[in-house]
Amino acid sequence: MGWIKVCDEKTLNNGDLLEYDHGEMKILITKIKDKIFATDRICTHAYADLSTGFLNEEEKTVTCPLHMSAFNLENGVPQNGPAELPLKTYNTKEEDKSVYVLIN
Ligand code: FES
Repeated sequence: MGWIKVCDEKTLNNGDLLEYDHGEMKILITKIKDKIFATDRICTHAYADLSTGFLNEEEKTVTCPLHMSAFNLENGVPQNGPAELPLKTYNTKEEDKSVYVLIN
């Protein structure tokens, strides 16, 4: 599928948790210290939408609002239970004032 434009650069600010849907895929886009991360948006434990979770900008994690597993945004790995499986992560880039996510 390739690079998909997910938003204009100016609509994504540091600390945002942005939702993007691509067909059935639910993606979470975040920005911390001007670096953009994209992961799957639905927790791997049970059904919770991580866009309503909590971002830790120092640890670069998002914490699930339901049972509080924190996922590393760089590799998707949960830092604590009950979640055991990692979130899928996606490459991102900024180009022509837009944000893109690489979807395979
Ligand atoms: S649903 Fe996310 S930790 Fe349980």
